[in-house]
Amino acid sequence: MQVHPTIAGLRAALAPHRLQRIAFVPTMGNLHDGHIALMTEARKHADVVVASIFVNRLQFRPGEDFEAYPRTFQADCERLTAAGVDHLFAPDEKEMYPQPQAYHIEPPMTHQGVLEGEFRPGHFRGVATVVAKLFNIVQPQVALFGKKDFQQVMVIKNMVRELGFFIEIIDSPTIRADDGLALSSRNGYLTKQERAEAPRLARELTKVVTAIRAGNRDFSGLENGVREVLENHGWVPDYIAIRRKSDLQSPSAHESVQVENLVVLAAAKLGSTRLIDNMEV
Ligand code: PAF
Repeated sequence: MQVHPTIAGLRAALAPHRLQRIAFVPTMGNLHDGHIALMTEARKHADVVVASIFVNRLQFRPGEDFEAYPRTFQADCERLTAAGVDHLFAPDEKEMYPQPQAYHIEPPMTHQGVLEGEFRPGHFRGVATVVAKLFNIVQPQVALFGKKDFQQVMVIKNMVRELGFFIEIIDSPTIRADDGLALSSRNGYLTKQERAEAPRLARELTKVVTAIRAGNRDFSGLENGVREVLENHGWVPDYIAIRRKSDLQSPSAHESVQVENLVVLAAAKLGSTRLIDNMEV
């Protein structure tokens, strides 16, 4: 695997491959099996696989874990090499944002102001801005994202469609530990006791999906039920929400709901670690 710290170096390396199909998987590093599954999937869609590692300051709010975010570059490179990735773009902040980034992609508030965006204002503006910039740098034909960050994928798909990026977006299923916990770089913050408790989130979301499939349409009752269970086990939930997959808005009480179009999303703190997860109905 070739590692490119500069935009010019990456562009030069990709120049001979411009007539081939290039797949791109952006990451912030600290790679786990979920990321590696994306790399493996990327290989099925392209001749050349490019990954990036860049911890993007723009998507963290003051007081979030930007400084503490785990940086494990050597181990990440070994995993990417083993996964058959051809090129890694790994810029530092000066390369990526030589002056403070003054131009931004501003997703509509209906997309960036709800769920994660309500609790992390500006997060999706930071994500959309860095992803657009990475897309322009790499110029892939296809890019892959994990469905664990369901709202992120929704924002990126809409950005690509509305701004005319000529890139196919593939969303891949969430990869889970044997006990159901969705893999995440932030799982590493959990204490042993919290790690044992953490799979409850996925279990509760699964119960909601089962209930909806069985005909339960009392969505707020189901959401409140999960909130209560989590609170009783020491969690501090931000949201538990049953939403339409396409735009993450609430299914209106009056519209006839096609349950296959719904997703159940949650974010909750366990100790000092904030976990998110979702399940499609
Ligand atoms: O999902 C992530 O790791 C990040 O949000 C992304 C897409 C790499 C942008 O920084």
